[in-house]
Amino acid sequence: MRNVSKRYGGVQALVDVSLDVARGSIHGLLGENGAGKSTLVKILTGAVRADSGEILVGGQKVQITSPIDARRLGIGAVHQELNLFPDLTVTENVFAGDEPHTALGFVKHRRMVDELMVEMNQVGWWMALDRPVGDLTLAERQMVEILRAFHQRADLILLDEPNRSSRSPTSSPSCAMESGSPRPRPRT
Ligand SMILES: Nc1ncnc2c1ncn2[C@@H]1O[C@H](COP(=O)(O)OP(=O)(O)O)[C@@H](O)[C@H]1O
Ligand SMILES: [Mg+2]
Repeated sequence: MRNVSKRYGGVQALVDVSLDVARGSIHGLLGENGAGKSTLVKILTGAVRADSGEILVGGQKVQITSPIDARRLGIGAVHQELNLFPDLTVTENVFAGDEPHTALGFVKHRRMVDELMVEMNQVGWWMALDRPVGDLTLAERQMVEILRAFHQRADLILLDEPNRSSRSPTSSPSCAMESGSPRPRPRT
């Protein structure tokens, strides 16, 4: 992003912000409460419009006016306020709105589970896919959001303080990924 500014009424949330993200890199953005971190994320995901400045993806200037634009451009996010369907399973949440169907219109459940098993193997952690998301811990729900961004083949995944409300440091998804959670056996 180049020279992005955003004002909410009397509050200047972002002033002339520029940020470059190279493929394969990981960035941490630090700032006190109200510094504008969530606003920056929301501008990149199409939830908020910047007042000025521009966004480039792969060197091309783009307009991100909705979450659909962001998704089409390969930008995925885990927001500070999680947005998952508590009554649906992990699988149903990851595929929500994008389920594979048979010619007769039935959802291909087996195919969704198979795809997710492969993807969890790629990410390097494992979770039960048939549990309703409402039964999961906050850390597990964050993992579902990350899995969804990964499943959507996002080139850029934005995590807006995903650890903020977890009680214990070991309950964060990043810790779970580092601590060698059980992996599914390779499928034959
Ligand atoms: N929808 C909004 N309406 C009015 N002010 C907002 C809105 N969203 C954020 N702000 C204000 O913009 C500033 C930046 O907020 P935010 O981006 O949430 O910061 P951070 O995520 O770094 O805590 C804060 O002063 C906040 O109160
Ligand atoms: Mg925030």
